[in-house]
Amino acid sequence: MWGVAATNGVYSCGSEMAQVEGFSDAWMAVEGGRILALGGDEGSYGDAEMGSRFSGLKASDRNEILVSLSKEWGAELVDLGGGVEVLPGLVDSHTHIVFAAPRHEEFEMRIKGESYEAIAAAGGGILNSARKLQAMDEDLLYEQAAQRLRVMILHGTTAVEIKSGYGLTVDAELKMLRVIKRLKSTFDILIKATFLGAHGIPMEYKSDPDSYVDLVVDEMLPKVVAEGLADHIDVFCDRGFFTVEQTDRILKAASAVGLPSKIHANELGLTGGVQVAVANGSWSADHLEHCSGVEIDLLKGSMDEVYGGTVPVGLPGTSYFVGIPYAPGRALIDAGLPFAMATDFNPGSSPIASLQIVWALGCTQMKLLPAEAFCAISRNAARALRSENEVGTLAAGQRANFFTTKTPNAIQAIPYFMGQNHCHQVFVNGSLFL
Ligand code: NIG
Ligand code: FE
Repeated sequence: MWGVAATNGVYSCGSEMAQVEGFSDAWMAVEGGRILALGGDEGSYGDAEMGSRFSGLKASDRNEILVSLSKEWGAELVDLGGGVEVLPGLVDSHTHIVFAAPRHEEFEMRIKGESYEAIAAAGGGILNSARKLQAMDEDLLYEQAAQRLRVMILHGTTAVEIKSGYGLTVDAELKMLRVIKRLKSTFDILIKATFLGAHGIPMEYKSDPDSYVDLVVDEMLPKVVAEGLADHIDVFCDRGFFTVEQTDRILKAASAVGLPSKIHANELGLTGGVQVAVANGSWSADHLEHCSGVEIDLLKGSMDEVYGGTVPVGLPGTSYFVGIPYAPGRALIDAGLPFAMATDFNPGSSPIASLQIVWALGCTQMKLLPAEAFCAISRNAARALRSENEVGTLAAGQRANFFTTKTPNAIQAIPYFMGQNHCHQVFVNGSLFL
């Protein structure tokens, strides 16, 4: 059993990211969907009474056993049969899984040499997705997003952030956020919703983008807040999208009504995204495919602030799919930061559902050690959502979200044998997900 923490709410900075705690001959006690205690050969954490009850129970001829029960002894016992390793459910802190259709035609245009930015500037890209989403019925959008979410869970992801941003009108943005609200009510995993009305500038506002920002701030945001549809706000702050000034205005308006921010920063250039994120106390700055020493120092400086710092989030699936540089994950870790990674699952720049792929890309392309990349998609990704008290490690008090794998030496082998689904069984709040 890996990804164990002695206390709840743990995440890791810099060199701590390479450390993975674990137990062999492990057991776990679950009550009400939460971990009550866990342990193995080396001792136990959590409820002391459960620890003493379980200490004699392990089967020495098995690598792992797992026991799940309520505090009334023996209410339910799940023996995983040995030969498996157990890892905490992975955390995907940046996705766009509510969309109407894939963009196969743009995939082929890019293969032939067209750039992502040129396709977007010509009215494709995000605007292409927005036209399709605006025309699609809410139920169908929900069904498609739910199917994507099931695939993600079957690949070990048990906490997800989902953004709006393919609506770009008041009605369509609210429609997207209602789909996310419905996903929250039908799936038992942790889901966080992000309002990304400032994802693209609709064609009719191209000559006057500030009036689209007016719409986001004065009409969309109050409605989103009144309906309680978002946990955070996001802005695509980049060349050809929203400027630093526009981003600052949107983040301040959101902060005034209690919404924290996470932003898309520096995907297309060194455009000031990190500066505006840090200045506004954003919980994370995501993308960072362009990130110099100046940005790294700013992020490092943010760690001392009262709000707890802006987590740098790399999205290697996007670099792979679009063919742009990788975020400097190695340098961000070497600077002592709590680096995180996510899929960015979306139809334009990263049609990648599995954090196991992100894990592999983090190792081969960003030069992260397997254990560091694991940290980046579990406990540090939880930190990017300020949810490290609930998900990201196996610790007493956390949701009992975890997966089992039959792949030996899982921490090293999952990113090594890339392209397979290494999950054997996935558990959400202590129950098997089917
Ligand atoms: O994170 N960069 C902005 N948004 C998405 C891509 C959106 C799209 O191309 O549909 C991203 O990469
Ligand atoms: Fe994104």
